[in-house]
Amino acid sequence: MTRHSFTRRGVLGTLGLGSLALGSSGGPPVSPAPAKQPAGPDFPADFQWGVATSAFQIEGATGEDGRKPSVWDTFSRITGRVKGGDTGDIACDHYRRFAADVKLMAELGIKHYRFSISWPRVVPDGRGAVNAKGIDFYKRLVDTLRDHGIRPHATLFHWDSPQALEDRYGSWRSREMARDFADYCTAVVSHLGDRVTDWMTINEIFCFTYMGYGVGSTPQHAPGTVVARKKDVQQTVHHALLAHGLGCQAIRAASPVPCKVALVTNCDTFVPVVETPENIAAAKKAFLAEEHNGTVIVPALTGKYGQEVLESLGKEAPEIREGDMEIIGQPLDVLGINLYTGNYVRAAENSRGYEILRMPESYPKMHMPWLNLVPESMYWAVRLVGEAIGKKDLPLVISENGCATEDQMSGSGEVFDLERVLYLRSYLRQASRAVAEGYPLKGYFQWSLLDNFEWSCGYEKRFGLVHVDFQTQKRTPKQSYRWYQQVIREGRVM
Ligand code: GCO
Repeated sequence: MTRHSFTRRGVLGTLGLGSLALGSSGGPPVSPAPAKQPAGPDFPADFQWGVATSAFQIEGATGEDGRKPSVWDTFSRITGRVKGGDTGDIACDHYRRFAADVKLMAELGIKHYRFSISWPRVVPDGRGAVNAKGIDFYKRLVDTLRDHGIRPHATLFHWDSPQALEDRYGSWRSREMARDFADYCTAVVSHLGDRVTDWMTINEIFCFTYMGYGVGSTPQHAPGTVVARKKDVQQTVHHALLAHGLGCQAIRAASPVPCKVALVTNCDTFVPVVETPENIAAAKKAFLAEEHNGTVIVPALTGKYGQEVLESLGKEAPEIREGDMEIIGQPLDVLGINLYTGNYVRAAENSRGYEILRMPESYPKMHMPWLNLVPESMYWAVRLVGEAIGKKDLPLVISENGCATEDQMSGSGEVFDLERVLYLRSYLRQASRAVAEGYPLKGYFQWSLLDNFEWSCGYEKRFGLVHVDFQTQKRTPKQSYRWYQQVIREGRVM
């Protein structure tokens, strides 16, 4: 999907900011982390192989057992917002079919599953009463996963905020959202913390703030609010960061056992177009300086917005109250990176010290307008989080990686998706490089198990390892499912 003036994971339209005063910007090339021998193609035995999904994209049953609407239920009902007028009403009917879906995961061989919990299913009015039937669904899901030897990784927010809070105070436009989110985290963790120990607070702050609130034209994501000025958008980002920080505190306070807390980010990634020391330094500068990273991942990991980003925002910078940054910069146990594409950079003699190279029209893309094939972004995302932000020991997982393809169904009912295999293989080879060089990449969650509701693209764009016939809900494992199964079984990507 093309997304507002931003490309989905790109930075076009956000160029023009200087580099931040964080980390080294023009220093000597960074030497790679010490290599473990023998290097590649094997992943360590404890590498976390998984798949990822999200509640609104697969569950359906939007009016069942006390769930109330989310902003995406409302948004998808407005004509023209979602392709084909698609909604999440049925989606993959996972709410009823979860046990069969867990079987598919077990046959795939994954030992880790990332899913999200629906806030309006658990706390239907956004605040206040907890819906026992909502909690029960997640207990059943988690218990089924554990029965199959699959460890649950639960994301607490994957964009489906309660419509009740939109009606009450405009969702992320209000600071109250952060407090309500923390209370919702407390409710979930106090009920599920005996069986889930891997928590992820918020998925991709960029997508529900910068793409849910916009100046001028209607944004492509829910709630789709047009605001007066950029400062209003930046304020939603700030409130989301606060929600993340308060959420971390709430999870740790409510968990009955030691647990792990992560943030999931889709940071912009920069690949030195040729790996010279100058271009590597340029990639580091770009990683820190571009607005999206400077206002999301940098404050979340360091407790400070990048000074130059704040200066360049000027009057459009968010209001930051005393104590906010301490809350935002909570220590993390893991960082999840959603990684799909990247940008090529090289050193340049301009005020920024780097140049982001334009992708030609004919550049190879997957079946999404923003999804340029840039496999090296996998390696460089992992490396730059440590080296540019200075968090070299922070354990990382790839919390999403995948692509939409135009799959071919054979006469005998098989589904061929060689393009997905080629895409995944090329990215996983780069993950294997990162692991072999000693970077702290601990796991990989392929996006996604099933074809599902792809936000404003509806059901037209298929990201699954398993084909879903949305008329009959029949599941058919694709060629890529068999391929990934073997990768997991052998622990290597050839
Ligand atoms: C996101 C989400 C997923 C998407 C996937 C493909 O990153 O947008 O986490 O919900 O479906 O990324 O676009």
